[in-house]
Amino acid sequence: MELRRIVVCVDFSAITPKVLEWAGEEARRFGAKVELVHVLEETMPRLAQEMLELHTLYDKLREVTEKRLEDLKEELVSKYGVEVETKILNGEPFDAILDYLDETKPDLVVVGAHGKRGVKRILLGSVSEKVARKSSVNVTIVKY
Ligand SMILES: Nc1ncnc2c1ncn2[C@@H]1O[C@H](COP(=O)(O)OP(=O)(O)OP(=O)(O)O)[C@@H](O)[C@H]1O
Ligand SMILES: [Mg+2]
Repeated sequence: MELRRIVVCVDFSAITPKVLEWAGEEARRFGAKVELVHVLEETMPRLAQEMLELHTLYDKLREVTEKRLEDLKEELVSKYGVEVETKILNGEPFDAILDYLDETKPDLVVVGAHGKRGVKRILLGSVSEKVARKSSVNVTIVKY
């Protein structure tokens, strides 16, 4: 088996360090490249943002998110010595992730079992559940 590209979905929630640990170990073992992916939910269309002069706020959010991804990248590079890229997508998280997987066809995708809403409700969060069910890419689901 060959693992060359691993997409890692991060939502910056409490499970993220665990997700990164799994992805880092897997990537090192297989000599794979990691892509750290975060989906920004811009709830307002660009035009409305501009009319309400909210675009600067969204630009700022994007900038902060880029910085947070860069920090995670540095951590992975120094801990595991793997190659890492970062990517920000827009839209509904599961749609954006599924489209991205479909377009880029990585060898593996790593998600947390839960995210920002935590573990109280159900077995899996809606993003991890949909990615596991609908994507043709193999999925690693990391639990707490
Ligand atoms: N915006 C996002 N960008 C990238 N990955 C995400 C995003 N949201 C969730 N994920 C991925 O999906 C995993 C599970 O999160 P999910 O959102 O499904 O659970 P939840 O927040 O507990 O519940 P829900 O969002 O369904 O109410 C996360 O650990 C992360 O890997
Ligand atoms: Mg969530």
